[in-house]
Amino acid sequence: MCLITFAILLFLQQQFSADAAPMENTIVAAKDDLNTEWAKQISRQAKAAEIHVMLNTKVNPCVDFYQYACGNWHRHNPAQLLNHIMTDRFQLIAAAFDRRLEQILNEPRDDNVLEAKVKNFYHACELVKKDDVRYRVSLQHAYQEFGKLPLLDGEDWKEEEFNWWETVANIQHKYGKQIILAVDIMADIANNTGNKVYIGPPDFSISSNTKIFSVLQELTTVEHMKRFFGVEEAKAKAVAKEMIKFERALVHGGSDSRAGLTLHDLLALKPVEKLREIYNESLDLQRFLELALGVDQVPDSVYVYDEKYFVSIIQVIAETPKHVIANYIIWQMLQEYLVDLEKGNVGKWCIERTKKYFGKYVDYMVYQRYKDPRVEREVLDVWEEVRETFRTELHGNKLDWIANSTREYALEKLDAMRLYINSYESENFTAEYASLQVTRNNYVENVQQILQMESGKKLQRLRGPVMPLEAPEVLSFTPAYNILENSIKIPVALLQPRHFWGPQYPQALKYATLGYLIAHEMVHGFDDDGRNYDKAGNLHGWWDEKSTYQFEERRKCFQAQYHNYRYGGEQLPNDVSQAENIADNAGVKLAYEAYQRWLSAQRAANATDIESRETFAQLHFDNQQLFFIGFAQLWCDDVQSFFRTAVAASDSYVPSIYRVIGALSNFQEFSWVFRCSQDAPMDPEFKCAIY
Ligand SMILES: *[C@@H]1O[C@H](CO)[C@@H](O)[C@H](O)[C@H]1NC(C)=O
Ligand SMILES: *[C@@H]1O[C@H](CO)[C@@H](O)[C@H](O)[C@H]1NC(C)=O
Ligand SMILES: *[C@@H]1O[C@H](CO)[C@@H](O)[C@H](O)[C@H]1NC(C)=O
Ligand SMILES: *[C@@H]1O[C@H](CO)[C@@H](O)[C@H](O)[C@H]1NC(C)=O
Ligand SMILES: [Zn+2]
Repeated sequence: MCLITFAILLFLQQQFSADAAPMENTIVAAKDDLNTEWAKQISRQAKAAEIHVMLNTKVNPCVDFYQYACGNWHRHNPAQLLNHIMTDRFQLIAAAFDRRLEQILNEPRDDNVLEAKVKNFYHACELVKKDDVRYRVSLQHAYQEFGKLPLLDGEDWKEEEFNWWETVANIQHKYGKQIILAVDIMADIANNTGNKVYIGPPDFSISSNTKIFSVLQELTTVEHMKRFFGVEEAKAKAVAKEMIKFERALVHGGSDSRAGLTLHDLLALKPVEKLREIYNESLDLQRFLELALGVDQVPDSVYVYDEKYFVSIIQVIAETPKHVIANYIIWQMLQEYLVDLEKGNVGKWCIERTKKYFGKYVDYMVYQRYKDPRVEREVLDVWEEVRETFRTELHGNKLDWIANSTREYALEKLDAMRLYINSYESENFTAEYASLQVTRNNYVENVQQILQMESGKKLQRLRGPVMPLEAPEVLSFTPAYNILENSIKIPVALLQPRHFWGPQYPQALKYATLGYLIAHEMVHGFDDDGRNYDKAGNLHGWWDEKSTYQFEERRKCFQAQYHNYRYGGEQLPNDVSQAENIADNAGVKLAYEAYQRWLSAQRAANATDIESRETFAQLHFDNQQLFFIGFAQLWCDDVQSFFRTAVAASDSYVPSIYRVIGALSNFQEFSWVFRCSQDAPMDPEFKCAIY
């Protein structure tokens, strides 16, 4: 669960038409079927060339392995201000998926009713750039549904008729849009056999937190107000500034660093009656929930997430002029409907929106066209190998700082963990989208219909079956661990052929990428947050006191190590939560170990040409070195220097360079494989380790 990064990626995708140039071997990628010997050769050569061009061989791998492996990435994939402020390999895989989707959306409609709905949606979105007038009329209707807007209606807006929480609750009830105070219905964190209502802060956009992003946000907001609502420049600027200031005050009202606290620390089950008493003057929580959930659907108790936030927003709201709050709420709602015409490439933007609103179905639809059962089998095999490797470690004496009883439960949790490929083949999309009428010419109404449908479904959860927490659907390119389900989900975009691994490439690359990604997610079940959840995904501790103490000491080691790194001139945050670093460190070790097991099995079976299959003739690396190169190159990126501090401060991951250096300098085998001297920076004497 890594929402911050999701927010960054989403922000980047929305703000800039990220058109990552495909440096994947385009010659062979044109067609997925590559069965001739010649094509296989080309495919291998292309991969070797791709690895080679990213290297900077002037750097000593024992001094800075990230620069060595990725030092030339920026030449081929430069981040450019106002174009793409960062580039990385996951963008490339996402872009490849988008190209497949774009191709389908531009095909003529056939008799597939569901695909026609998606195509209509995309078409209506693209039409906005041609049919500005009709679009603007729809926007007017959309905001007028919830009253007037001081920004546009001036004197006609009546302050005394405005009630912020009623407006927020009404919008949320109808369209599910969460503003200022979010209500959600999800599996009960303490007992996932039932659902509970959660209230807390909504997901704020990253711009509210970070100066540089908020400047960009302001520009976009002003542009939209002018373009779609005819607001004068000066007024638009003033209102945009007020709204951003208000949002920043809301964000800062929460716990100072939620990042350092676990869900456990921040969540409390409270009787609604009690909450109503506490906030009665300024926020009638009973009435708020009646409006948001339906009159007869208010439960006796709800989970409150970060109660500090409540206390603080009530104060912020009391101190803010009502017209600012009214502008903010309605403008937030309109965000769902605003089309970014400025970015030059509306088509790309509409692809993002199509993925956002038809997430699962889009994955399903595109995947049906490149699906390969052999690849699915391969993913499941790697998962079993990685799991078996961890099992062996838990049985062995390397982890003897964990008490036997705790290790026994860890094994049970590991056995209970499941891995799914998110191909959505068992979903009944026909039933799901039956009521949805998507027109080819009204984007705003299309979005409204979808939001209403989703909101209706969410409200039914109060009575319906348990709803697992899901990662946001737009993120269809990196795997995720679901802590409340104890399961790993693999997005189908990752299974596109010949990105990270392929049948013609050395298997070392497969373990370094797929193996590492799966191991990373698996370890999230045992990191500083995940270890508080049992094998069924309920918040329920199973660590004995002594092992907990030992775990904490080791976690602090990571905290100090990563806090010492500098990025964009600043030290990395002194983050209490080390979940991502724990998962990275153990992930790369387990993947490496799994690869060694695979090699032994091959040798035991007298497999031929292992040496030549596992290396590239064009590159001078042995197979173990290739593993580490493959791992490091997964994290090649280029971030505009201007944005580095902002990215480092707001992300739950450390910057890519330290995902590589941090994990590998803690891993003794790395230094052996590259024959580093004992005083090499990549081989510090003191190494942090948990698993
Ligand atoms: C969870 O709730 C169900 C009923 O909803 C109950 O039967 C079960 O005992 C509860 N489990 C735990 C661990 O409390
Ligand atoms: C607010 O709650 C207090 C008790 O905490 C109660 O005395 C008071 O009457 C309530 N005010 C209103 C307006 O309901
Ligand atoms: C833990 O288990 C190992 C192997 O099963 C055994 O050798 C060791 O004595 C056990 N430790 C304790 C404290 O029981
Ligand atoms: C999916 O739902 C539709 C409409 O409710 C129904 O007619 C159809 O039989 C369902 N398909 C499957 C495979 O269950
Ligand atoms: Zn992670």
